[in-house]
Amino acid sequence: MSQKRTEIAALIESEAERADVLIQGWVRTRRDSKDFFFLELNDGSSLKNIQIVVTRDVENFDSLKTVRTGASVSVTGNLIPSQGKGQKWEVQAAAVALVGEAPEEFPLQKKRHSLEFLREISHLRPRANLFGAVFRVRSRLSFAIHRFFQERGFFYVNTPIITASDCEGAGDLFRVTALDMESPPKTEDGQVDYSRDFFAQPTYLTVSGQLEGEAFATSLGKIYTFGPTFRAENSNTSRHASEFWMVEPEIAFCDLQQDMDWAEEFVKWVIQDILDTCQSDLELFFNFVDKGLEERLKFVVERPFNRVSYTEAVEILLQSGKTWEYPVEWGANLQSEHERYLTEEHFKSPVTVYDYPKDIKPFYMRVNDDGKTVAAMDVLVPGIGEIVGGSQREERLDTLRENMSKHGISEEEYSWYVDLRRFGTVPHAGFGLGFERLLMFVTGVANIRDVIPFARTPGSI
Ligand code: 4AD
Ligand code: MG
Repeated sequence: MSQKRTEIAALIESEAERADVLIQGWVRTRRDSKDFFFLELNDGSSLKNIQIVVTRDVENFDSLKTVRTGASVSVTGNLIPSQGKGQKWEVQAAAVALVGEAPEEFPLQKKRHSLEFLREISHLRPRANLFGAVFRVRSRLSFAIHRFFQERGFFYVNTPIITASDCEGAGDLFRVTALDMESPPKTEDGQVDYSRDFFAQPTYLTVSGQLEGEAFATSLGKIYTFGPTFRAENSNTSRHASEFWMVEPEIAFCDLQQDMDWAEEFVKWVIQDILDTCQSDLELFFNFVDKGLEERLKFVVERPFNRVSYTEAVEILLQSGKTWEYPVEWGANLQSEHERYLTEEHFKSPVTVYDYPKDIKPFYMRVNDDGKTVAAMDVLVPGIGEIVGGSQREERLDTLRENMSKHGISEEEYSWYVDLRRFGTVPHAGFGLGFERLLMFVTGVANIRDVIPFARTPGSI
């Protein structure tokens, strides 16, 4: 059997010299001297490179001129203490094979590239330090999310991606159709006849797995979904993507207080896990992306989040003495500028805002005793704003029906959802956390496009 490669992440942590290791990766830089050259090799296993020393003793030395930045190589040699500064170990090459050449126009030469430029080469940018680190942390963050819920008795549910319902009622839906768009079948009154479409009715990409999640929470007790969601909102901001991942726990026998507790514990736990397990990648973010990041992450895991009602938040905003682009008044949605003021300037910490006006929230939220507000909550964090949105759900059959009719939602189409209240209804609550927003928070990366492998945003795919 052929030799298995040793990953650079393991080599740099080595306790002792090692003979005859096989290292395979991509050349980051090459430095030439008369009778030898150095390669900085990276294989993606770690932010760190390993230095390879190739001397004239290597058999094919003269044929290695084309081993340039970007090329892939296979090296065997001995791991020995490095003579040079900046690294503990280096590899004295015994044999070097060029696996795949990279011509000089390889775009990731050793110099600073703008994030905008790197976005245009999303297939190559994971080979750049920043993006390697972002995507390794993204992977670990997914794992941490599963661990958090699995270790606390939540079951992972895969809710459908193609759906007939509009959970958030905001109408930001991508339609899914198999009709011929050039000449769709029409009804007698000239409308597109979706009864002749693939699913015999209008269908969309999901904006949230919550409604289906509720069916499983009210059977399995505690569940979470973690999957892609899609929104056709034309918000060209640094925090909105058209395709993003959402984590949505849903918990039976749970009220808004407990829901807020879960959200806070969850956000803190996964950030702590990243602090514990992604040190070397985090170091890059601390040093080169956001100088305040380390302190902020530690602050967040150590201190309780603030909690204020929407009504109190509006009071704070009105008394801030600030002039707002969007006016602040009770009953209006909090805009990003308001959210950021609350978390960044007023509280200087994460803050959970709860009990929002009923009229600006979706039909499924539980109406409070005041009749004007619903048991909703949003977690706001510095630098991002809203990272979590959740609520206690309306479990009372009559109130739910009333809300549905006010929102113009057909009871016939959502009869399955209403059934959950007809048959053994229970108080239940949940929330949705935007995975990319959390990753932005953890890495300090300011644009959502830079934490998604292949970002989809308005006008860009
Ligand atoms: O606040 P939202 O719209 O809540 C829901 O969809 C609920 N059904 C969740 C639930 O209770 N199960 O979205 C939840 C979170 C937001 O707080 C935000 O972090 C993220 O999803 N999010 C987006 N992230 C990136 N791009 C977008 N366009 C986003 N829209 C929402
Ligand atoms: Mg929201």
